[in-house]
Amino acid sequence: MADDARPRDQDIRLLDAGAALEVRLDGVTRRFHAIWLRDNAQDATTRSPSNRQRLITLTEIPADIRIADARWRDGALAVSFAPEGLSVLFDADWLATHAYDRAPPPTPGWTGHEVVRWAAADAGDLVSEDYAEVRGSLAARRRWLAAVRRHGFARLSGVPTTSGAVCEVAGLFGHVRETNYGRWFDVRAQVDAANLAYTNLGLQAHTDNPYRDPAPGLQLLACLANSVDGGESLVVDGFKVAERLQAQDPEGFALLARHPARFEYAASGVRLAAKRPILELGSDGELIAVRFNNRSAAPFTDIPYAEMAAYYAAYRRMAELVEAPELGVRFRLAPGELFIVDNLRVLHARTAFTGEGARWLQGCYADRDGLFSTLAVLEETPR
Ligand code: FE2
Repeated sequence: MADDARPRDQDIRLLDAGAALEVRLDGVTRRFHAIWLRDNAQDATTRSPSNRQRLITLTEIPADIRIADARWRDGALAVSFAPEGLSVLFDADWLATHAYDRAPPPTPGWTGHEVVRWAAADAGDLVSEDYAEVRGSLAARRRWLAAVRRHGFARLSGVPTTSGAVCEVAGLFGHVRETNYGRWFDVRAQVDAANLAYTNLGLQAHTDNPYRDPAPGLQLLACLANSVDGGESLVVDGFKVAERLQAQDPEGFALLARHPARFEYAASGVRLAAKRPILELGSDGELIAVRFNNRSAAPFTDIPYAEMAAYYAAYRRMAELVEAPELGVRFRLAPGELFIVDNLRVLHARTAFTGEGARWLQGCYADRDGLFSTLAVLEETPR
């Protein structure tokens, strides 16, 4: 540690009569509010030592809480609060990690990890692993799950071509989200002259089930048979699409984010409907979800008349970007291959197919939090 980075008591200043303090961490001055420090105290009366859950409510903290004293003690900042009379230690590294007196945002995105947006030219960066490896090796599993977190997409080969095997893959990181389509569902199309128009048409890239609330966060699609001509898979990074749209048409981006769209699906015994924006921003303006599905978009009834034409222009521009060849990554799934998409980010499609043969995929849904949790635990495990 450089001398100027060593914590020194003379670099601590109480601000606003103890309503906040200023301290140097790793050579950088950071400010912390008394209420924030008190609420985030790490002592055993504030946080359960066993599960780290908070034991106090905000109303138990005096509204006029202030810092009475602060000084370094063995690499930790000892802070005394008044009028409580409580004194707690904050590890210097913990303070540096959680410092909020900073710009840009304190964490690299909603996953807490780097999100890498990709286009067709980046196809070589997208990860494919082997099922037996991912099952048997924690390192391989960590690589595969990290790829899903980074790219919202990854492939897997060597998956058994037995019915339902797709659920076993989901079980490697989480739990299947069962829906009205079942625990898993078939995407099967026989090329049949009597039914060509229905079964072998290409599908525009989309996210699945935006009519659910919440929409499934992950989709897995496994190939059991694919002997047709065509029938390629296509994936498009919706975050890349949104980035392009924002660069080319900032107001269009804002319109798709500001107004809710509606999605619905009705079948025998099922009436699903959700009202969500096509581009969903977090409260800090970060893009956190994309919903795009021409087949299940319902009439948009929440957009003012004065903005509807501009909204549709932006929606069209987004659709053009979704279909842009330079953004989509194409590949052909062979039997035993599978792909997983972050269904609130990456759109998927299949191209039209013809000729003899069959195309049989099986899919299932799961949730992102389970995958991220499994990955976080794996990353804490020594290699
Ligand atoms: Fe789909």
